[in-house]
Amino acid sequence: MIVSCIQTAPRLGAPEVNLDRVEAAVLGADADLVVLPELFASGYFFESTDQARALAEAVPDGPTTRRLHDWARQSGATLVAGLPERDGDRLYNSAVVVTPNGWLGTYRKTHLYYEETTHFTPGADGFHVWTVTDRQRRSYRLGVMICFDWFFPESARTLALDGADVIAHPSNLVLPHCPSAMPIRALENGVFTATANRVGDESNGRETLTFVGQSRICSPRAEVLATAPIEGEAVVRAEIDPRQARVTALNTYNDRVTDRRPSLYAS
Ligand code: ACM
Repeated sequence: MIVSCIQTAPRLGAPEVNLDRVEAAVLGADADLVVLPELFASGYFFESTDQARALAEAVPDGPTTRRLHDWARQSGATLVAGLPERDGDRLYNSAVVVTPNGWLGTYRKTHLYYEETTHFTPGADGFHVWTVTDRQRRSYRLGVMICFDWFFPESARTLALDGADVIAHPSNLVLPHCPSAMPIRALENGVFTATANRVGDESNGRETLTFVGQSRICSPRAEVLATAPIEGEAVVRAEIDPRQARVTALNTYNDRVTDRRPSLYAS
């Protein structure tokens, strides 16, 4: 199957412009799984919680999820994309999984970064793995984490133990370390990872953040199968075989799942 990550430079507070700008890349990706960045249509560095609330959407009935469904139907791809979700009075930094048949599920970011902590409620439902199919109707297991979740190895580990073959990782990375860490997250958990990051600068009126690009697809052998530059919008893609993620034996003696010693680990 083909995995693609779309690296974008959205404009804060202009979801319709951002959706229109990314549409051609999504429809042209020719992939089974397309990953878009965190908060890809709203922008990231909100000026206030009021601005975040004004940009937040219900899921699955909001305009971004509906647009994603249109794209999934037209392309045949499963899409994973980040958006600000509104549920009652609460806002979540969420990622939706959308297939040609419609919205499949939502993951609410567990580990909020920096000023996100002032706008969003941290997700409390834990991590999820969904069974999805590629365009040849072959099924695979898809887990989702969002950006700073990478910093906590338990996120990817939990998804791997729950059976993920591929971890989709919508991101708005500002720290420089994640691109070099992701091959190791993939290796230690025996999964494929697909990090879709954004580029450019964004100001909340008080401070400016610069995003580090380098969207990348990594293999369970710690290979970087595809990578985007630090600057500039880009589309990266790689062919992967999810069955490689189901091999847990390292050799005749070692197995990355059963060799674990959870009773000796701190919780
Ligand atoms: C981040 O979690 N957006 C750094």
